Amino acid sequence: MTTTVLDNIGLLVTNSDEMGAGPLGAIEDASVVYEDGLIVEVGSSGLAADEMIDAGGACVVPGFVDSHTHLVFAGDRAAEFTSRMAGRPYDGGGIRVTAEETRAASTEKLTEDTALRVEEARRAGTTTIEIKSGYGLNVHDEARMLAVANRFTTETTFMGAHLVPEEYIGRADDYVDLVCGEMLAAAAPHARWIDAFCETGAFDADQSRAVLEAGRECGLGLRLHGNQLGHGPGVALAVELGCASVDHCTYMTDSDIEALAASDTVATYLPATDFSTRQPYPNARRAIDAGVDVAIATNCNPGSSYTTSMSFCIALAVRDMMMTIEEAIRAATSGGARALRRDDVGRLETGYRADMVVLDAPSYHHLVYRPGVPLVARTIGSARR
Ligand code: NIG
Repeated sequence: MTTTVLDNIGLLVTNSDEMGAGPLGAIEDASVVYEDGLIVEVGSSGLAADEMIDAGGACVVPGFVDSHTHLVFAGDRAAEFTSRMAGRPYDGGGIRVTAEETRAASTEKLTEDTALRVEEARRAGTTTIEIKSGYGLNVHDEARMLAVANRFTTETTFMGAHLVPEEYIGRADDYVDLVCGEMLAAAAPHARWIDAFCETGAFDADQSRAVLEAGRECGLGLRLHGNQLGHGPGVALAVELGCASVDHCTYMTDSDIEALAASDTVATYLPATDFSTRQPYPNARRAIDAGVDVAIATNCNPGSSYTTSMSFCIALAVRDMMMTIEEAIRAATSGGARALRRDDVGRLETGYRADMVVLDAPSYHHLVYRPGVPLVARTIGSARR
């Protein structure tokens, strides 16, 4: 087996308190040796290996872990976005527009487009990505979306409970029965997780609970969309059910924060969504100071957040959600790993995956200091995780 060393790293972010200094476990003048995709040694510059990649004194951070995307879809909703920028509020109803286009798209086209989006994310430093279904909204197309997603990642999420489709409007409970029965049976072989959109206009707490409990019975892990468009029962339900993550969390009461802080559920913020929907940004400082474990993800989808850029999300989280730069970097790496219950990514130490981002910058501060600039010089790590 060939060993490779990433050498001459000016500043290495390990995310390991034992390995380095400060809140990111940073090491100056470092090198990382890896073999077969796994780190075998981290140390000072100059470690030996069969092959060498020269980082040229740049900063290296762990590959980004994007724990929330809806990457399999057809069409775009640029017109809806434009009207939002002119003042029209976001209500999630556009999910049905994308469902119609996704149902009509061939599997080849969906696969090709998803491949392009995954590659775009990888170029921007993402090495682990979660992908949800949720634009099929029938048995055949939900299973089809997940089969496509499975070609790119092991982190696949069944989200038949994204919105009640056109043909079930007025019969939401019948649709929930379908999701919990035939649709789940068809989707589960392709999925690791189950998710539901617990929000006014989508699914209420009882419907969301029924979906997640049915998923658990089938062996799927639980996650939930909650508290995106207003205060609601999502966060409390996610904590009650022991979800790995509750995502959005734009509106949280003090008791939501207390419940999260006392739980193992990660609060995953999606700041590009608040940007693209002109929602208020949540104050992450409030949650972090209360002891809540937080992650940041892109939520890449054609409606509420059409970006694959974790760097953009990091910059927003610092500028508008009151995170420190270090907290935002951690939330986008080891935070995402915890939101996916992964203990092999998100840190750079022996035994972890050698998923690394070489920045075209001397320090990670530049990810926020130079927003919108493509600062990822090279992404190292396997394509399918
Ligand atoms: O997380 N909130 C629900 N789902 C997506 C939006 C999908 C869409 O608008 O197409 C979200 O924001």
